Amino acid sequence: MFRRSGRWPRAFAARELPRRRRCRNWIFPATGRSTPRLALDAPSLPFAPVNAQGYLASSRIAGLPARLRPEGSKASQPRTSKAGPGRRTRRRLASAEVLISISAATLAYIDDFLPEDDALISARRNAAEVGGAAPVSPLTGGTLRFIAAAIGARSVVEIGTGCGTSGIWLLRGMRPGSVLTTVDSEPEHQRLARAAYLAAGFPPSRYRLIGGLALEVLPRLADNAYDMVFCDADRLELSAYLASALRLLRPGGIVLFNSVLPGSAGTERLPTDAEAAAAAEVREQVRADERLTPLLLPIGNGLLAAARHGGSS
Ligand SMILES: C[S@@+](CC[C@H](N)C(=O)[O-])C[C@H]1O[C@@H](n2cnc3c(N)ncnc32)[C@H](O)[C@@H]1O
Repeated sequence: MFRRSGRWPRAFAARELPRRRRCRNWIFPATGRSTPRLALDAPSLPFAPVNAQGYLASSRIAGLPARLRPEGSKASQPRTSKAGPGRRTRRRLASAEVLISISAATLAYIDDFLPEDDALISARRNAAEVGGAAPVSPLTGGTLRFIAAAIGARSVVEIGTGCGTSGIWLLRGMRPGSVLTTVDSEPEHQRLARAAYLAAGFPPSRYRLIGGLALEVLPRLADNAYDMVFCDADRLELSAYLASALRLLRPGGIVLFNSVLPGSAGTERLPTDAEAAAAAEVREQVRADERLTPLLLPIGNGLLAAARHGGSS
């Protein structure tokens, strides 16, 4: 939108243009000249190194051994000339760099699109102080709020209250008078979450905080009674959460799993091998389950969503 007019939104430009100026002297290895004009428009310009074969080091093809690159494609022919990439290759690399740059700027803008207010900032600060309760990102929270609003959620189960960040987003999307049921094994996290909900303006009638281990609490919740289940607790228990969600959700309800791809964006640590395997297992279970319509979103470290069939016909 702003690219067409050649201008960045004012707040964005005020913050980013100084960085953009700093980029001006960068020389791209592929083109041998300073950054192309479009790339200059990208504030957080990533440097795109080229590997020994002349491919962008960050490209998926570049990471593959020659025998695994797409057959017959130019990418399958490793460059052998000592003179470096040819003109056509240089042009291709330059346009790839421009694309990468635009995408980085776009992501920065998306991150800023839904800024956190005081209640969310304070919940995030509490989570950082207490530890073990990494809050969802604004984009993940915004997605939860959007889905809750889109389906007119009246009753939502959250597995992993933390210090209240995702709960605030969910409550903001849910219908007036609806109830969030949220489960966590750490009393201190729930104490902070309760305070965060109050600070965000939600009375106690809007939430039910249940302390305990998820797999002990979930069997006590009613069948077919919930519009949404959001899973963000023990990363080894994802398959069990899915089984519970299938029982708890009404037809047409939606289950979501936070952080189902390897990565550490916004988390306190990388997943262990066992956690990564559990995430891979639930991704496949959701994809293969004929009772569900699956969706894997590139939000945070992967937000896995699925709608239970049998809603309005
Ligand atoms: C990533 S944090 C949740 C963050 C929260 N969704 C937010 O955005 O603020 C995970 C939470 O799950 C809780 N938890 C971990 N294992 C659990 C389990 N087996 N049963 C219940 N809660 C658990 C932790 O105490 C922690 O508060």
